[in-house]
Amino acid sequence: MVKVWIEKLLEEPELYLLRVDDDRIRYFEATWDIPEGITYNAYLMKLKDVVILFDAWKKDYTEEFIEALSSLVDPKEITHIVVHHTEPDHTGALPKLLELNEYKAQIIGTNFAKNLLQGFYGSDVVKNFHVVRDGEEVKIGDRTFRFITVPWLHWPDTMITYVIEDKLIFSCDAGGGYGIPRAIDDSDEEVVKEYLPYVTKYIVTVIGHYHKYIVQNIKKLKSLGIIESVRMILPGHGLIWRRNPVRIFEHYERVGAGIPTKDKVLVLYDSMYGFVEERMKVVIEELRKYNKKPVIYRFTDKEAPAVSDILGEVPDSEALIIGVSTYEADVHPRIRYTLYEILDKANYDKPVLIVGAFGWGGVAGKKIETLISRSKFELVEVVETKGRPTEEDKEKLREAVRRLIQWIS
Ligand code: FEO
Repeated sequence: MVKVWIEKLLEEPELYLLRVDDDRIRYFEATWDIPEGITYNAYLMKLKDVVILFDAWKKDYTEEFIEALSSLVDPKEITHIVVHHTEPDHTGALPKLLELNEYKAQIIGTNFAKNLLQGFYGSDVVKNFHVVRDGEEVKIGDRTFRFITVPWLHWPDTMITYVIEDKLIFSCDAGGGYGIPRAIDDSDEEVVKEYLPYVTKYIVTVIGHYHKYIVQNIKKLKSLGIIESVRMILPGHGLIWRRNPVRIFEHYERVGAGIPTKDKVLVLYDSMYGFVEERMKVVIEELRKYNKKPVIYRFTDKEAPAVSDILGEVPDSEALIIGVSTYEADVHPRIRYTLYEILDKANYDKPVLIVGAFGWGGVAGKKIETLISRSKFELVEVVETKGRPTEEDKEKLREAVRRLIQWIS
């Protein structure tokens, strides 16, 4: 049975977390392998004469959502529903809830959100919709809610809510991550350490295409002066941040900007019959000689790592080394797809070395060179040679690795 958390977070204002741990999902957005699962977080605030719901859960968990919510309040008593972002992992359960609520609650969101909700669920859902503009403050009960748009975190519809009197930020996708943390908040450092790599993976796969907006939007929130003094950041996925709330946005900023971890080099390759692997062993040995720490992913006839995991390694790498076979006058299919996603989702200003192998004609290296030239990555060199590497080929590779190391030092 799926695990549901109903946790009281604050006495005043009375605030609850409603979290479901989705351990059935395998591919987020039908694409990204997440054996680690994900959580959907909604929040309920009870004030004098008003009850406010912030977001909901995915449709698959509608029944569990209604049951959890009903343990705190009769759905008919919900007066306001804040929709920060309309992607169905946060809105799928809304139509059923609104039906039980008899459409009494006012929905609050951006104009873009209204449009999308109508498209997803029909006109009934938006008939009592209050459109808010960026920075608009709305008094509900005895609290003041400021709605701040954060476009492209993760869709153009997205906003966050800042509760002025209590310094709370409801942030939906922004500040979220994959994984099912064994706690609800950041109070245990071990839990945070386990969780943060999943946050990086989430940022790259879900928001990566728009990663420049992460930096822009966090800058915007900082300029509004709401981050330094925030008491709690309450995302739509994963941990709540209340021991050190600023930390999650700092992490987002680092990933958005692609800040490297010292000496980390991502090494990625395919090897059908061992020829590329022989080259990569030389490369890896040379990297280690210079105290670099290669993080290695390989596609062989026995293993195929998840592309989502590879993407999560890109932002904090100092450089990338890609080993590739020419396959039917093209890039090996696994590397072709992985590279396509790297260039789309994790397109950073980092140096790349290409190591190619071919049987009767080297094509992959040239093709990758063209792709790299159209991206933010910088090509250090393509070393593409035939068949089993000779001693001369190996020396060329060592030299190329040394050039890469010079590039990043
Ligand atoms: Fe968690 Fe963009 O939805």
